[in-house]
Parts: sequence; C-alpha cells; structure tokens
Amino acid sequence: MKVLLVGSGGREHALAWKMAQSNQVEELYCAPGNAGIAEHAAIIDIAADDVVGLTAIARNLDIGFVIVGPEVPLAMGLVDILQANGIAAFGPTQAAAQLESSKAFTKDFCTRYNIPTAGYEVFTDLDGALVHVHKNEPPFVLKADGLAAGKGVVIADTKFTAEDELKEFFSGKFGEASEKVVIEEFMTGQEASFFAICDGKTAIPLIAAQDHKRAYDNDEGPNTGGMGAYSPTPVFGEKEMATVMETIIYPTVAGMAKDGMPFMGILFAGLMMTKDGPKLIEYNVRFGDPECQVLMRRLGTDIMDLFLAAKAGKLDEVDAPAWLDDPVVNVVMASNGYPAKYKKGSVIKGIETANMMDGVYVFHAGTQKNKKDEIVSNGGRVLNVTASGDTVAEAVERAYAAIDQAIDWEDGFCRRDIAHHALG
Ligand code: AMP
Ligand code: GLY
Repeated sequence: MKVLLVGSGGREHALAWKMAQSNQVEELYCAPGNAGIAEHAAIIDIAADDVVGLTAIARNLDIGFVIVGPEVPLAMGLVDILQANGIAAFGPTQAAAQLESSKAFTKDFCTRYNIPTAGYEVFTDLDGALVHVHKNEPPFVLKADGLAAGKGVVIADTKFTAEDELKEFFSGKFGEASEKVVIEEFMTGQEASFFAICDGKTAIPLIAAQDHKRAYDNDEGPNTGGMGAYSPTPVFGEKEMATVMETIIYPTVAGMAKDGMPFMGILFAGLMMTKDGPKLIEYNVRFGDPECQVLMRRLGTDIMDLFLAAKAGKLDEVDAPAWLDDPVVNVVMASNGYPAKYKKGSVIKGIETANMMDGVYVFHAGTQKNKKDEIVSNGGRVLNVTASGDTVAEAVERAYAAIDQAIDWEDGFCRRDIAHHALG
C-alpha cells in the first residue's frame, strides 16, 4: 500500500522509521518531512497545514492511507477532507479533534461525563474573569481556549499577575485562541503522558511516558514543546493504567460516540497524578512529541496493524500490542535560544557515529540538508537522541554519551536531567 505521513518533527521521524519496517507499506511518502525522514520516505514539499495541497497530492499519487502526525491539520479538518475525496486516513475528524483544539469543549465534556479533571470556569470577557480572580485565591491556571502551540497556559502565583495576564489574553495575546479563557484550579503531583488508540467505539491502551516541558534543568525556564521523555515511568504502572482506562479513556470514547463525534485516532491524556488519583490536565488528539519517539522504540508490534484496524473499526479484533521491556529515553537537542529566538542553518555532525553506539538511535526534528549535503539545523527542537538500556539509568547514560562523544553541533543545547524522577 502507498502511505503518506504528514508532519516534520521528531514524532514523525519515529513514525516513519517504524512504518518503514512494516511489510504492509510498499511506498512511504512524507510531507513536508525532514532530513532524517528522507532516509525512510520520499519527501513531498507541502506544508502540514496545506490541507488542500495535501489532498491533491494524495489523489495524484493514489495514496491508500494517510497518517496525520500534528494537531494543526487535524483541527483544520484534514481527515474529513481526505475522506470526502475517498482517501482513507488515520486521525480524528475536525469535530472529534475539538478534544485538543478547544479547552472549553473538553472541560464541558469532562463535566458531562464525570471525567476527573481540575475544577474550572470559562470566561468570554475580561470583567467576568477579573471578578473570579477577586473572589478566589492563587495560584490560578489561565488557559487560552484554542491551539497555541503549547504556550497558551500561564500559572499565576498572585492575583496581580493573574490580572495582568488576563488583560493580555483578552487583548489578543493568542489571537482567536484567547477570545475564550479557561481558569482552572491548580493541581499538584507528577505529570504523565498516557496514550490509547481508538476506533470510534473501542480503545486499546498503549503505554505512558514522562515528558519534561520546561527548557532548563530542575524544571526551570519557559515552557517548551518538550525537552525529553522516557518510558516506562515509575509514576504510571499497571494499576494507574487500569484506573485511567476506566475513569478517563473509556468514558471519553463512549461519550464522543454518544455525542455523534466518534473518536478514531490516538488519544493522548496529559495527566496529573494527584494524591486523589490521576486527573486529566488536557487531551491531545495525536501522539506526543518527544513521547512518540520512545513509544515507537519500545513497540514490538507492526504499527500499521494498529492504524488499519482503528480505521476499519476493528480494534476489538487485534491482539494487544507488544512492548519491549528495556526502558528508552529521549534527550531533545534544541537550538540555543529555543523556545525564544534562535538561528537556523548551523552544521551538525556525528549522527552516524551516534547511531553506531550501543542502544542509540537519533531521530531528526528540525533538520535539513544544505547544498554541500551536510545536515543543518532548521528549527527549535532539532535532534532526539534516544537510547535503550537494561535500566533507565543505563539508557540515560548512553543517550548523554552519544551527545557528548558523537554529536558535534555548536549551536545546540539539551537538558542534563532527563528522567530525573526515575533516577531519584
Ligand atoms: P496544558 O497545555 O494544558 O498541558 O498545560 C501546560 C502545563 O501547565 C501542564 O503540563 C502542567 O504542567 C501545567 N498545568 C496545566 N493545567 C494545570 C493545572 N490545572 N494545575 C497545575 N498545573 C497545570
Ligand atoms: N509533549 C507534549 C505534546 O506533544 O504536546
């Protein structure tokens, strides 16, 4: 079958790497891809949010199946448009993607279906939001309703900062995304990212990973898309998985079907492991990045079996996916300055050498080749140095050894404490 993968991050490199191992994939294409994905797929120069262009090329190439990596095309309705053109695709419809594209939608949905999450109120004007701040005590969690590339959340420790931030939200800080603002109760605990694959009526649990959202060591600095991940994580074992399936995932799949928006795709629950049990922080409707990279390295099953069964509505007929026992860690290397301003185009060497080290494999994110055929940086998050080991400690040691001894990139940085929660 001819398959088209949409996206260009480390998540998509990991998906391309895994999909290329499937004997169900005869030809693999990726739009717009990166220099690493180009090793496994034919690259098409069409942006991930060009839904019209992607549909046209899928028709021209006679693509049999499309996998959508990032949230933006899903929220724009790419899956609906492909399907209207007779092209099968894996991922939720635009309506079902509201679980990620509207925080107010998700909070209301959780209330109706009794899904554990932080208490909240939704505001459409500044005055109402300010009254809420006057009446309650900090910290306040302020969230733009719409997609804001992971930057639409502010934790305000004082009433004063909450007021200032709310003024900015309502004066268009995130454009349309902050026309509605959700104010949430502050939850404490460790976070975990848990994934399930869904076919509209059935959900199969995948596994959990732990992300590191802040830019610098000790969880300091600004929020990012994610600076590293590892799996398995001690905060999320069999017991937690059973609880989350029962209290969060199954009610969501049933509720979405009941509401006429059956969810087919990857459901990514961002969870706070509170002392009262796991609570939903947010839903995403796709794999996480950098989490997907560790999941793909641990997955022992042909991923196309899962994607195709989900699309066919037959997840109840597939075997539970197999997972390799060895822990995997992913250390993100980002351009100096990320998540604020950074430069592009600096040469990166040593990826091949890193890939020859025990347990190591480097997934590319923002990379491309220059005219001299060298790999150069082309984004904020640039490399994902993944490593497996007998223990989390060994995996961590191998990933940092690859970074220190093999990768040669002057303009990059990484966190030095990925997986610290597991190492104690
Ligand atoms: P989100 O984009 O909703 O995942 O939020 C980004 C980050 O803000 C999360 O990963 C948490 O670290 C933090 N956060 C979001 N909501 C809450 C909450 N209700 N209580 C505490 N922290 C939160
Ligand atoms: N790593 C978090 C995300 O993909 O949204």
